Amino acid sequence: MQLSHRRAGRRVRSLSRASLEWGYTLRCVSPARHAVAVASGKGGVGKSTVALNLALALRDEGGRVGILDADFYGPDIPLMVNLKRDASLKRWDLWRGGEVRLEPVERYGLKLMSVGFLLGERQSLPFNAMSLVIALRQFIDGTDWGELDYLVVDLPPGTADLQEQVTQVLKLSGALIVVGPQDAAHLDAKRVVELFRLRRVRILGAVENMSGLVCPHCGETIDVFPRVADERAVWGLGVRRLATLPLDPAVVGNGHGPLLVAAPDSAQAERFRALARAVGAELER
Ligand SMILES: Nc1ncnc2c1ncn2[C@@H]1O[C@H](COP(=O)(O)OP(=O)(O)OP(=O)(O)O)[C@@H](O)[C@H]1O
Ligand SMILES: [Mg+2]
Repeated sequence: MQLSHRRAGRRVRSLSRASLEWGYTLRCVSPARHAVAVASGKGGVGKSTVALNLALALRDEGGRVGILDADFYGPDIPLMVNLKRDASLKRWDLWRGGEVRLEPVERYGLKLMSVGFLLGERQSLPFNAMSLVIALRQFIDGTDWGELDYLVVDLPPGTADLQEQVTQVLKLSGALIVVGPQDAAHLDAKRVVELFRLRRVRILGAVENMSGLVCPHCGETIDVFPRVADERAVWGLGVRRLATLPLDPAVVGNGHGPLLVAAPDSAQAERFRALARAVGAELER
């Protein structure tokens, strides 16, 4: 019995030494004055679009901004900024922990990091929970972000391991929720709100994206989806509405880059800048 205790003790000591060497002991850090997670629960409601245009709008307001594409399963940021893989980094470089320093990719005055820069377009990365923490730590702690005012974190859909890990590894100043104007989008968003609240991450507010369509002929807003009752929506949880963004073909980009680059003078771009001011004000409160 005593012998097995001693063995267990040795095992725990060597495990913790190994975790230090590999750099995956949990420590909450932030490379920016404010790290903001953009989350939704539901997929395809516009998280990456909002994260990227919010980052550009914060840049327009004079901020030094980075984007961490934390969607390891479907990294979309490189495509959205018209960039492909940077072949200089090999897959296994990530697993060597703190030894490797990564350089963020610079685009439109933003600093970007994404697994999409490490993978071929048809390559997937089979992450398990441990490698996910190591890679996330590498992106947060092992990347030379320089001086940043804001790090915008684009999360994948769901309330699973990545969302959980981001709240543990990264010191978040707050979370911005993106919802579509449908029942299901609000239902999933409420789960994310609860996850962040459980982890004591402040909810800065929510953006209702794809909310109606502005008629290009008469300028009137057409409601595409039936209105979600307030008590069924995230607003019922006391989440503030920071912006309402209508469906807009200009947002899709069609290879011309993100909206704030392709159409910086449009009404939709101004909505993003108003959102950035609201997020900035929330963060300074
Ligand atoms: N307001 C909008 N008007 C028109 N199209 C939009 C709008 N917002 C987002 N889109 C389009 O909807 C699609 C999904 O958006 P996006 O990739 O940002 O969603 P997501 O929530 O990040 O998706 P995922 O959950 O897969 O990461 C994209 O093609 C994007 O261009
Ligand atoms: Mg996305």
